Amino acid sequence: MNENKRARPFLKWAGGKTQLINDIERNLPTKVTNKNFTYIEPFVGSGAVLFWITDNFPKLEKAVINDINEDLINTYKTIASNPKELISILEILQNEFHNLEGKEDDKKLYYYHKRELYNTRKEEQSVQSALFIFLNRTCFNGLYRVNSKNLFNVPMGSYKSPTICDKENIMAVNNALQKVEILKGDYEQTLNYASSNSLFYFDPPYKPLSETSSFNSYAKDEFNDEEQIRLKDFCSKLDELNHTWILSNSDVKGKDVSNNFFDDLYSDFNIQRVDARRNINAKSDKRGKLTELLITNNKNI
Ligand SMILES: C[S@@+](CC[C@H](N)C(=O)[O-])C[C@H]1O[C@@H](n2cnc3c(N)ncnc32)[C@H](O)[C@@H]1O
Repeated sequence: MNENKRARPFLKWAGGKTQLINDIERNLPTKVTNKNFTYIEPFVGSGAVLFWITDNFPKLEKAVINDINEDLINTYKTIASNPKELISILEILQNEFHNLEGKEDDKKLYYYHKRELYNTRKEEQSVQSALFIFLNRTCFNGLYRVNSKNLFNVPMGSYKSPTICDKENIMAVNNALQKVEILKGDYEQTLNYASSNSLFYFDPPYKPLSETSSFNSYAKDEFNDEEQIRLKDFCSKLDELNHTWILSNSDVKGKDVSNNFFDDLYSDFNIQRVDARRNINAKSDKRGKLTELLITNNKNI
């Protein structure tokens, strides 16, 4: 197994940031990244930016990731500490699932049985993590959605022989995570882990462009306007403490020119509009050009 392979996100995740990396790169504060630095990602999701950073910045001393989704964070921890056991369970799930190819009813039974097992949250950590990855790979559109009881409720997707066990990537992620501290909880706790030379990248649940396009319920609790305001207050606090940050969010003004929510909220900072293509929100793509916001307190751009 080649352990030097580049790590990539091991999940499909709403708002995966692979497409935004070039824009983030243009906004990076070289004064931070040119010397030993700490990278902090308080809403890590599938970690597209994290893996790009761990791969490309030799001066990265340490990274800190955080998410409120406990099952997601436990899976990061399993990959960091017990990747081989995880791989062996995923191999079994993959073989069993692929063997049912062409037998739709049996496949469905299998999927819903694994979903039920996952929802008990009583399996050992490595099994829970394998089920988390299995469901992510086989469910409808790779969505992660839970009901008010935190029960995962996405139906089966229609992928043909999806990759469930990507051994090489799990080992590459394990390698990338060696420098990474993994936290579970609200984003504000990450401030305790900042060093004097830190870069924060915030990718919160986006403010919905309209009531119906809303897809920001990754966890039980909704990220509403009050939450967006609390996040801005946190960014202001970081600014006062001389930490550099970059934040992405939806461009609500692109949809409705009179909507100045973010322009007003972040008026003290640098706001850019960049081209965006969403994977999960396929419908909005059909409307044509879609922009999103990249906001930073980095003054050297
Ligand atoms: C837009 S996604 C991040 C996507 C990620 N950048 C990627 O590439 O996959 C937002 C994440 O914020 C997490 N989240 C929601 N509320 C949170 C909170 N209060 N503190 C920390 N994380 C939170 C969600 O669980 C979700 O994983």
